[in-house]
Order: sequence, then C-alpha cells, then structure tokens
Amino acid sequence: MTKKKAAILGSSGMIGQRFSHMLDGHPYFDVVAYCASDRSEGKRLADVWKLPDIELGPSLGSKAIAGTDPAALAKEGVEVVFSGLPSEVAGPVEDACAEEGMAVYSNAASHRTDPDTPILLPEINPDHLAAVEAQRRRRRKGGYIVTNANCSVTGLALGLKPLIDAFRFTEVYVATYQALSGAGYPGVSSLDILGNVLPHIKTEEEKMSSEGKKILGGFSNGRFVDSPVHIEASCARVGTRDGHLEAVFIHHKGMPDADKITKAFSEFRARPQELGLPSAPLKPIIVRREHDRPQPKLDVNAGEPVRARGMAVTVGRVRVSEDHLRFYLLVHNTIRGGAGGSVLNAELAYREGLI
Ligand SMILES: NC(=O)c1ccc[n+]([C@@H]2O[C@H](COP(=O)([O-])OP(=O)(O)OC[C@H]3O[C@@H](n4cnc5c(N)ncnc54)[C@H](OP(=O)(O)O)[C@@H]3O)[C@@H](O)[C@H]2O)c1
Repeated sequence: MTKKKAAILGSSGMIGQRFSHMLDGHPYFDVVAYCASDRSEGKRLADVWKLPDIELGPSLGSKAIAGTDPAALAKEGVEVVFSGLPSEVAGPVEDACAEEGMAVYSNAASHRTDPDTPILLPEINPDHLAAVEAQRRRRRKGGYIVTNANCSVTGLALGLKPLIDAFRFTEVYVATYQALSGAGYPGVSSLDILGNVLPHIKTEEEKMSSEGKKILGGFSNGRFVDSPVHIEASCARVGTRDGHLEAVFIHHKGMPDADKITKAFSEFRARPQELGLPSAPLKPIIVRREHDRPQPKLDVNAGEPVRARGMAVTVGRVRVSEDHLRFYLLVHNTIRGGAGGSVLNAELAYREGLI
C-alpha cells in the first residue's frame, strides 16, 4: 500500500495534537506538514504539547509547525488534509484545500450542513461517503470535504444505532456532562468551572438535534434524508478533563428488556470492523455491568487495539422500567468525538478508493 501525503491544520490545538499522535506511524497516511496560525509558526510540536496522557517522543516533538497555506500544501503534493481548525476559520480554508484537489477530513462545524457534504460516522452511515462525488465534480481540481459530527452527538449516535436497528423509536432525551477539553485550549476559565457546573454550552443542544438527524438519516438519489429520530438535549460543562458522559432516556411502547438491549449493544459490529480499519475498535460499544460505570476517569480510553484507544463508547447502568429505557454513555470527545473520528473516516475513504 502506498502511503498518502497528509497535512494537519490546527496542529497546535486539542484536536490537532490528537491528530498528530494518531497519525504518527499510520499505515495509510504520512504527515508531511503540521500547520497552525502565525502565533505558532516556527515552533516545534514539543513547544505546544498539552496532552498529559501522551508521552511525546523526540521525533514527533521535533516536527516544525508551519503557517496555513493551501496552495503551498498542494505544491508539496499533499493529498489528504486533517482539519482541527476553529469553525470561524475553517470554512474558507477547507474550501481552498478542496479546490486545490485535496481530500479534507474536518472536525469543524462550518461545512456540516452543506447539501453535498457528509457528516460521516463509518459504523452508522458509510453509504453517505458517496456524497463526495458531487463535490468532486463541482470543485476545480476534484477535491472534497468530509466532516465528522459534534463530539457529544457522535457518542450518542453510536449508542443509538443498534437500538434503532432493533426497535423503532422517534424521541430520545439526553442530559450531558461534558469535559473541559471540549472547549479547546485554554477553554473555560478556571474561576468559572472550579467547584461548579455550567448548564449551557453554546449551540450544543441545537447541533445534537440537527446533526443527529443527518447522521442517522439516509442518502438516496444524491440527497440526505433526515432520520425521524428526534434528539432533545440538555448540555452542561463539568470539571472533568476528557470524556463526555451522557444520561440517555428513551420511551417506546413494547420496550425490549434490559438483557436484550445489552446484547444489542455488545454484539454491534459494522463496516469498519468488517474492513479491519486501523483505528476501528474491535468492539465499538463496550458494556460495563458495574453499578458505578462508565466513569470518565476509568473508561475514557476504551477501545482495542492500541491504535483504537478512545475510539469505543462505553455504556452502563442499562435499566428498563415498563416502556422506559435509561442508560449512561461515555465518549472520548477529542478522540472518537474529534480527531479519531476524522482518521477513521479517512481510513474508510482510503479503503473505498476515494483517496
Ligand atoms: N475539543 C473537542 O472536544 C472537539 C471535538 C470535536 C470537534 N471539535 C472541533 O475541532 C476544532 C478544533 O477544536 P480544538 O478544541 O482543537 O480548538 P483549539 O484547541 O482552540 O485549537 C485551534 C487550532 O486552530 C489553530 N488556528 C486558530 N486560528 C487559526 C487561523 N486563523 N489560521 C490557522 N490556524 C488557526 C490554532 O493555532 P494556534 O495555536 O497557532 O492559535 C490551533 O492549532 C473546532 O472546530 C472544534 O469545534 C472539537
């Protein structure tokens, strides 16, 4: 297999650092450019590194950070771009990369609502990847953009998928307890969050609802078709470092019992597992049976093999009472809900011959 030349945009940020780690020694992609703003230009990755759980080796740490210039990346022969840019910046920069012929895998919200841009989640909607064909036709040099979803809806959608396959329901209620790394670096002021919970995260509840409909929906005759499933969310920021915990409630007449639901979670496998994609967790959903799990501290890095650490979601406290199902779910917001989601998307595209 020939490795494709890749670049990371926003390489000094929370998501960018996860990209740098996950793509180091990757079997399909060879990162040749680490980009950020002119504030970081000229620094090395070691100068900006803030991930306490990853020991930065000398080789990765010595990578130089460049400015962000799509034309220069194209000249360097970059074919794949991994974007961890803030949404205010990402729109035009990602467009410019796609116009230069590159395949862009983005974490930003800027293009998620575009009519020919998928919000891809390979375990749920691998068929949505076909939408990029329309982009390739309209763009000057045949590039395209694929996005991944907001971090909290990514975890939720993964947890919902086996349940949607097993029984029909149309309303989901969820309360989230979201980690600080979800707000980037430096993020929320310590004086605002210490000993406190913030019961509002700007546009998060709206995104969970609208993006959930697109991810869980269909793609036919070149159009995305919204799912009938409606997600009603209440989102709070809490003082954890990584991992969004979510309390999920579903009402359904004729709800299966807790054992059947647990079985559906545990047995769930999909396209990434069939293909054996490098960052695909062997089990996308891990069920914990202890009464006090999942916990961000203990379960945030769930997922095997080593390359898929943080790529599995963990569910627990599955309870059914009459027609009501309740469970907790945990997703690593900067890995499965962030950089890892984009890496998995690009791995699928590589194997489908789209990179
Ligand atoms: N954090 C999460 O859990 C999460 C999850 C899913 C999606 N996302 C999305 O991922 C994106 C990145 O989030 P983050 O948390 O990693 O943010 P972050 O920590 O604030 O990092 C932002 C990155 O973008 C760079 N940047 C900012 N302005 C730029 C400009 N004008 N030109 C070029 N580069 C620029 C920054 O470079 P400098 O360091 O040089 O300023 C930094 O590398 C956002 O769109 C966010 O919504 C985040």
